[in-house]
Amino acid sequence: MDLKDLPASAPTAGSPVVGASLPHESARLHVTGKAAYTDDLPEPAGTLHAALGLSPVAHGRIDGLDLARLKAQPGVVAVFTAADIPGENNVGPIVHDDPILARDTVAYLGQPVFAVVATHRDAARRAAALAREVLQITPLPPLLDLRAAHAAGQHVVPAMHLTRSSHPGGVVGAIAAAPHRLQGRFSLGGQEQFYLEGQISLATPLDDGGLKVNCSTQHPSEMQAMIAHALQLGAHQVQVECRRMGGGFGGKESQSALFACVAALAAQALGRPVKLRPDRDDDFLITGRRHGFEFDWEVGFDDAGRVLGVEVTMLGQAGHSADLSPPVLTRAICHFDNAYWLPDVAIHGHLPRTHTQSNTAFRGFGGPQGALAIEMIMDDIARTLGRDPFEVRRANWYGTPEDGRGHHVTPYRQAVEDNIIDPLTQTLAQDARYAERRSAVQAFNAQSRWLKKGLALTPVKFGISFNVAQFNQAGALVHVYLDGTVLVNHGGTEMGQGLNTKVAQVVAHELGLPLAQVRVTATDTSKVANTSATAASTGADLNGKAAQDAARRVRARLAGVSAQAWGVEPETVRFEAGQAWGPDGQQLGFTALVQQAYAARVQLWSDGYYATPGLHWDRETLTGKPFFYFAYGAAVAEVLLDTLTGEWKLLQADLLHDVGQSLNPALDIGQVEGGFVQGMGWLTSEELVWHPQTGKLMTHAPSTYKIPTANDVPEAFTTRLYENRNVSDTIHRSKAVGEPPLLLGFSVFLALRDAVAACGAPGCLPPLRAPATPEALLTALAAVQATA
Ligand code: MTE
Ligand code: MOS
Repeated sequence: MDLKDLPASAPTAGSPVVGASLPHESARLHVTGKAAYTDDLPEPAGTLHAALGLSPVAHGRIDGLDLARLKAQPGVVAVFTAADIPGENNVGPIVHDDPILARDTVAYLGQPVFAVVATHRDAARRAAALAREVLQITPLPPLLDLRAAHAAGQHVVPAMHLTRSSHPGGVVGAIAAAPHRLQGRFSLGGQEQFYLEGQISLATPLDDGGLKVNCSTQHPSEMQAMIAHALQLGAHQVQVECRRMGGGFGGKESQSALFACVAALAAQALGRPVKLRPDRDDDFLITGRRHGFEFDWEVGFDDAGRVLGVEVTMLGQAGHSADLSPPVLTRAICHFDNAYWLPDVAIHGHLPRTHTQSNTAFRGFGGPQGALAIEMIMDDIARTLGRDPFEVRRANWYGTPEDGRGHHVTPYRQAVEDNIIDPLTQTLAQDARYAERRSAVQAFNAQSRWLKKGLALTPVKFGISFNVAQFNQAGALVHVYLDGTVLVNHGGTEMGQGLNTKVAQVVAHELGLPLAQVRVTATDTSKVANTSATAASTGADLNGKAAQDAARRVRARLAGVSAQAWGVEPETVRFEAGQAWGPDGQQLGFTALVQQAYAARVQLWSDGYYATPGLHWDRETLTGKPFFYFAYGAAVAEVLLDTLTGEWKLLQADLLHDVGQSLNPALDIGQVEGGFVQGMGWLTSEELVWHPQTGKLMTHAPSTYKIPTANDVPEAFTTRLYENRNVSDTIHRSKAVGEPPLLLGFSVFLALRDAVAACGAPGCLPPLRAPATPEALLTALAAVQATA
């Protein structure tokens, strides 16, 4: 990366590191191929390789397994089934309903039933591929359809309801009394994480009965706990390490556990290192992904398009087990408001159980699904009234506590205290010339028969923190060595997002050192204990603060040493430019000071800790203060649609996103651009198709599952960071950036819907499902053309 190509930086006053556009700590390693991922680690002598035998049916009773045949295959050393797991056969993070290896029944096509361990990976895979022949399974009828499963009363957890109403007739009364009413339904597909590095674990037995597991995971502490439970070990006997992931996107939060547990089980039983790396197709077939949703709603609104009452029922496709579905649904419910004040609102959430992979975390964690539902409603209201959708959105914005209208409280009763959505969207509308381009699109469409343009401006408000308050804590270690170099360890994981770079920047700033003097090491359960998943975009918020705390403790001790030598108060000593500075111009090099401190027997390393203040959440009533603050953003997208083929092109995208006071604008812009493109892929080209009879996921490889590539990035693509400072006391007043920008991709979907609407009668509501593949676009076009 060439530094001169990076965006101009606005460093924090007096700091050359915090706020600077510094390259990712591993950028050079990434692009030269030298960054070591789990599969690149040198294999210990005697390493064996595991492969999983997968269920060939979506639902069935396991009657038997031809173990002898499997064991006779070339290279096979051992075969493991559920019966070989000494402890708990489950990797369910919340409800313990998710077996590592299926025991009596199989619940989806692709479910692991046995593991083969062989001398070579190829041998293990060849044997595991015999699953269809060696497994005796009596098929049972599978339940595959989300609405059908809901109708059949099959759910992984009980329903969730959130209501807030001031109308005497309740939400139903508010809708009934409104001047206008609309009903609608919307079908929203799921999304595969498609991390470039697949799931992988390498388990190595230690000499005292313990295990070390190198695992590509966002949640090393949970891997440690799951392995310990499965193998009846103490957590102190299991060490899990992750230097970096080649992407996680939520897919390695809970679902890395199955692979970690199988590798650990085999390593423990055989006393040899065992590696498990499924290939891409198996990864698709075994693991779950973003939940697809079905929505039904009814809304009442006034002439200006203001929502007076809205009721929505959302079904999230959990798959065969609970996994993280309950918190995903909670977040969907808590983001149905997006940026809008909804006076009377009733949200009903359900998690039907189907015989498919168990769905899990994916960037946004249900938030994008919930928010897209209200955006569809806003779009419908605007089209029905013949108003510009941006105008209708503006009419519904949250207010502020100061404006005295009382329009600043979310349905879950948290006050929105940092609302900037109106100035942010106004800035974007101006910069992107929204109004002018709206007229230009209309003019173009009036004279173009087959090609139609569409334009949309969509907002984002995204709550930051884990909904479960206890996860909002973090720890870190800072070691200062005698040569003045600094080693940092924290509980977060690096998956490409740049967390380690940000944490190193924070520590370098506290100690007044150049970034090159600070190094962050692999995440390791034997260093910082009981860590939370690196998820909910909280990585830098939590671990940055914990590392800052650790660095400040060491700094205070160093300040004490120089203060004593200079006869000044310790608080007056500053650390800048590699030196300690006294109030009267005294100065001493950092390394010299460290050596003096060591000689005086002062501790040169420290732990640090942080817990986000003020959070509370009542899981029964779905109310409280789940979020420390909100991150905001908006996007304008313009598309060109070929109405004969359903093919389209993104002509221009303008993004404006709020990261508070950026820790690193280069990394943040990367996250905003990446999130936008990933959101666009979800809603346009990434389609998941399960065979309607067998329940086999047909789209299990890049040949059939289409993620966006560099070619899908528009030629006119502007990304700006909104000038802001977090009103909440976050690390250097920055804001989390990992997930919220994914919602910027809504603009592309709604621009496509706008282009489709141009083919119908005024006021038509295109029944466009997501993803808006050419097929879905043609279906919606046919429906609206029938109205024209
Ligand atoms: N960026 C890259 N490059 N790779 C990833 O896997 N995951 C996303 C986001 N950005 C991801 C990413 C998700 S799902 C989350 S929750 C956050 O990063 C997690 O990291 P953070 O908390 O440090 O932002
Ligand atoms: Mo991100 S879905 O919270 O891992």
